[in-house]
Amino acid sequence: MRSPTTQTLDIAVLPGDGIGTEVMQACLELLRATQAASTGPVLRFTEHAAGAQYYARTGVALPEATLEACRRADAILFGAGGWPQIRYPDGTEIAPQLDLRLALDLYAGVRPIRWFPGLPKVLADPRAQAIDFVLIREQTEGLFYSRGRGRIDDGHTAWDTMRITRAGSARVSEFAFGLAAQRKAASKPSRVTCVDKANVFTSMAFFRKVFDEVAAAHPEIEREHAYIDAMALTMVAKPWTLGVLVTENMFGDILSDLGAGLIGGMGMAPSGDIGDRHALFQPAHGSAPDIAGQGKANPCAMFLSAAMMLDWLAQRHGEPRLALRARAIERAVERALSGGATVPLDYGGSAGTGQVTAAVIEALAAALRGLD
Ligand code: NAI
Ligand code: MG
Repeated sequence: MRSPTTQTLDIAVLPGDGIGTEVMQACLELLRATQAASTGPVLRFTEHAAGAQYYARTGVALPEATLEACRRADAILFGAGGWPQIRYPDGTEIAPQLDLRLALDLYAGVRPIRWFPGLPKVLADPRAQAIDFVLIREQTEGLFYSRGRGRIDDGHTAWDTMRITRAGSARVSEFAFGLAAQRKAASKPSRVTCVDKANVFTSMAFFRKVFDEVAAAHPEIEREHAYIDAMALTMVAKPWTLGVLVTENMFGDILSDLGAGLIGGMGMAPSGDIGDRHALFQPAHGSAPDIAGQGKANPCAMFLSAAMMLDWLAQRHGEPRLALRARAIERAVERALSGGATVPLDYGGSAGTGQVTAAVIEALAAALRGLD
């Protein structure tokens, strides 16, 4: 029995569109099973509307009530938002996940890329099994600053403007060094790489300058610079040499999909959108209209995002039992996939959302025992 003083944490759940709703349902099942098998705070899940389908019905992508619930919640779990056929009059897509980043100032996009047994060996080099890096994407400015502000002159010339500020660059760099310090303490690769295009753009040279100023306050952490184009090569040629990358919004958008490709695709790539007060966790993938509604989606990226949420809550509330649940989820995913009996459809196997979910939940008990 839980004591009446057991802490309750409110989780705002936004399933969104397409496979977002499918992987979210699977994830809530897993989180409830994990919670039932362990002690510590109780997570209370409340679903809220947002997304392209909701916009098609109501003309609103992110209702005020949902935004307010996200503000009040202890953390936010998001599925996926957007549907290619549903667009704003200017041709851009409905993307409540982007609206939330700005509304809640979720400036650090954290995308861990880690290989573990059971994942496809995308690169032939055996050293690729040591891939364990984190990409930090600045999420409140950069080229995405121009979202909703672009303009077309006389029907001939289109403009989108990149905005880089000292404050925006400093806080995301600080976040990268903070994470690197934690990784260093855990004996994980921790060198911080500033990924930019400082050889060409004033804005990028400025980003690098601010990064260097922040780096100066963290002499114990190794750091370096790389140009975005060279980094695209490094991520394919020797990704096992990377620790923590920090970069501009658009560069991070592109590199995070490349990173996901290194571990077998979008079905395995989790992410956290983290600010100083709020945080949202979601798989890196979108609503996948090509497989939506067919029970084919790999829910593991959503599961691993939930584990990131538990880690974040554990730190914030000084509650190590939540971090234990995060480890249990990670290990259950690893156990389920490495056994060989459960191969998700996107890895050439036959296991759909339901089968992967059942296998991970079945692996939970052993995963939790291993943590005692
Ligand atoms: P996507 O990530 O939805 O799909 C890309 C490819 O990966 C598709 O072939 C899809 O079937 C596959 N895929 C993605 N997740 C998978 C999973 N869990 N299991 C198995 N296969 C998976 O990206 P796409 O097609 O560019 O975008 C589709 C919609 O999603 C668009 O409306 C887009 O705006 C939106 N989107 C939303 C994001 C978010 O909510 N954060 C991120 C990216 C796209
Ligand atoms: Mg993207």
